[in-house]
Amino acid sequence: MRANLIAGLDIGSTKTCAVIGEMVGDPHRAPGFKVRGVGQARTTGVRGDLVTNLEATTETIKQAMREAELMAGVTVDRVFAGIAGDHIEARHSMGVVAVAGEEITVSDVDRCHQVARAVAMAPDMELLHAIPTDYRVDHQGGIKRALGMSATRLESDVYLITSSSTASANIRKAVARAGYGVQELVLEPLAAARAVLTEDEKEVGAAMVEIGGATTDVAVFIDGRVRYVSVLPMGSDNITSDLVRGLGIPWAEAQKAKELYATAIAGMVDPQETIEIPGPGPGQIRNVTRELIAHITEQRMDEILGMVRMELDRLDLIDQIGAGIVLSGGGAALPSLVELAQQIFPTPVRIGVPGEGLSGLADSVGRPRFSTAVGLALHGVERFGETGEGASTVTSGVMSKVGMWLKEFF
Ligand SMILES: Nc1ncnc2c1ncn2[C@@H]1O[C@H](COP(=O)(O)OP(=O)(O)OP(=O)(O)O)[C@@H](O)[C@H]1O
Ligand SMILES: [Mg+2]
Repeated sequence: MRANLIAGLDIGSTKTCAVIGEMVGDPHRAPGFKVRGVGQARTTGVRGDLVTNLEATTETIKQAMREAELMAGVTVDRVFAGIAGDHIEARHSMGVVAVAGEEITVSDVDRCHQVARAVAMAPDMELLHAIPTDYRVDHQGGIKRALGMSATRLESDVYLITSSSTASANIRKAVARAGYGVQELVLEPLAAARAVLTEDEKEVGAAMVEIGGATTDVAVFIDGRVRYVSVLPMGSDNITSDLVRGLGIPWAEAQKAKELYATAIAGMVDPQETIEIPGPGPGQIRNVTRELIAHITEQRMDEILGMVRMELDRLDLIDQIGAGIVLSGGGAALPSLVELAQQIFPTPVRIGVPGEGLSGLADSVGRPRFSTAVGLALHGVERFGETGEGASTVTSGVMSKVGMWLKEFF
């Protein structure tokens, strides 16, 4: 067992994905991640990002983890696991303190964070992340690092992200039953953004839009910091449901038809082209035009991206994301998606796949569906740099403690 191993585990609503690798390079200046193993399993026991059947989810996790371990030729005992769902809430909170000495010290900053964090939270919610986004020193705002500055008053804007305690407890439980510990629970859109957004994009301003099965996750970065995250309750599986209804075929056939033949812009499909689908009776086959599939797909995708646009407009963020939209997640594998998105967003659009900072079997995770799992592992790499703890050393479990400060992490 090697001490610098890191594992990311993404329990998605449609697939569960494990990525195992090792931290390479200088942990403080240029940390890298060498991918050694990837495992995938179709998720069972999860509905809309919530664990609904513990046993089935446990089995899914075991399958994905074992596959990744086999490929990597190592075993791990802890993972960085993702969490998402519409129980996630995020809000900004301000903390204000009087600076104790002449200069701002670590203890002043900590106190300020504590004040910002001390907001009333519903009893069934727990704090996942508390991310400082901005400091004000003696009323002067826009300060990224307040430490060491001369001042009498320090304010910090902290972005608080909470989750349902039940939802997180069930993820921890399923992972534990599969035989692993949760090193830390990380909000999925933050993890995915880590894997696909470049530092420059985050600086200039960018929105990562991760289209999963049940949800579409949005994470907006401005001036290098996360400004906004949201989990919208519609994803690529909604297209599948539409195809089930529109074509009168079973779910599995609809999913297959979507993944093989769907396109985001109906006008780009040859109207003569047909494909075979099952029905109407058992054992029968009929033809439908690809244009019809594309038409159904376009309508729903237009609605999903329209929902994202409305959200960005509502928060006045659309003009602040000069680097534009980065689409990721399994749903982003849809042909012509960039072209459709370009009709909806007045900014540049690209597809984001994990790649930066990766070595080893990087090719095997170079698709948009792997963003979250890779991002979780990259988060682990950064943590490793701070704590020197990997996925295969036994510790007191400090890392899994709820409400952990992310410092200047995201
Ligand atoms: N080639 C493809 N074209 C269109 N859609 C695809 C393609 N490949 C996968 N998808 C769709 O992407 C979705 C799954 O995406 P992903 O693997 O990111 O989701 P997940 O992580 O399981 O779900 P969530 O993040 O919502 O919990 C499914 O609806 C799947 O049908
Ligand atoms: Mg996902």
